[in-house]
Amino acid sequence: MVKPLKKAVMPVAGLGTRFLPATKAIAKEMLPVVDRPLIQYAVDEARAAGIEQFCFITGRGKTAIVEHFDVAYELEKTLEERGKTDILEELRALAMPPGSIVTVRQQVPMGLGHAIWCARSFIGDDPFAILLPDDLMLCDTPCMAQLAQAYAETGGNVVAIEEVPRERVNKYGVIAPGATKGNLVEVTGLVEKPPVEKAPSNLTVIGRYVLMPEVIGHLAKMEKGAGGEVQLTDGMAKLIGHQPFHGLRYEGRRFDCGDKVGFLEAQIAFALKRPELAPQVRGFLDRYR
Ligand code: G1P
Repeated sequence: MVKPLKKAVMPVAGLGTRFLPATKAIAKEMLPVVDRPLIQYAVDEARAAGIEQFCFITGRGKTAIVEHFDVAYELEKTLEERGKTDILEELRALAMPPGSIVTVRQQVPMGLGHAIWCARSFIGDDPFAILLPDDLMLCDTPCMAQLAQAYAETGGNVVAIEEVPRERVNKYGVIAPGATKGNLVEVTGLVEKPPVEKAPSNLTVIGRYVLMPEVIGHLAKMEKGAGGEVQLTDGMAKLIGHQPFHGLRYEGRRFDCGDKVGFLEAQIAFALKRPELAPQVRGFLDRYR
């Protein structure tokens, strides 16, 4: 029996420079896809995988992210009085159980590995999930639930992976693959943003992880990697050979909402999944052919 997966860490301290000026005064994680902010998709996905405790790694200007999960008493009362029950139900489903969200601050952007290390007290001795809200997932079984299932079977570390065209591997963490069993690939090496010609494969890590707490000890050394930042990938690489480590070829699609085109495509894909919007959206798309 593996230790149950109940904790998730969500790094949300990034500056969102690729979306300026939209992100000058609001957090990029609050940008909506259709009608809900990116952070909500990530939290809903984690909850669907049985996760109950959340740690947001935040920074300056990110208050709205936490408030989004508060009970908005006045708003709810007004909606109730006006008989707007549908949206009221949705808002109520959003409120998190008391004490289930904590925040820690990452004062200086020193890399994803450093951000995760900032959550060390929250993580303690437990396995934990990481969800990067920029990676928006469209999957029949939520991506984190697929990872949690794989973790329950294999134990140890499991990261979601996908194949990308060779020339794009330098944008991601890349795995060196070992034995494959179904959708699970043994990870024998990990490199952050390698030059295309040095990449061990074209299997890249996306923003969904289940990790063992021992990764924190490696991150604590604050060794700088790709881009002069403390990289999560380098910390994870140190676990290989000491603990099980697998990549899961998840089923579904990922939209890179840290990128303008990815974000626009996500709007369309998620709108087309909504029966009340799909016919109209299809209709207007025809006009842009
Ligand atoms: C981060 C990770 C990288 C991973 C990617 C997935 O990179 O460092 O290993 O492949 O997320 O989205 P970033 O996108 O923050 O540069």
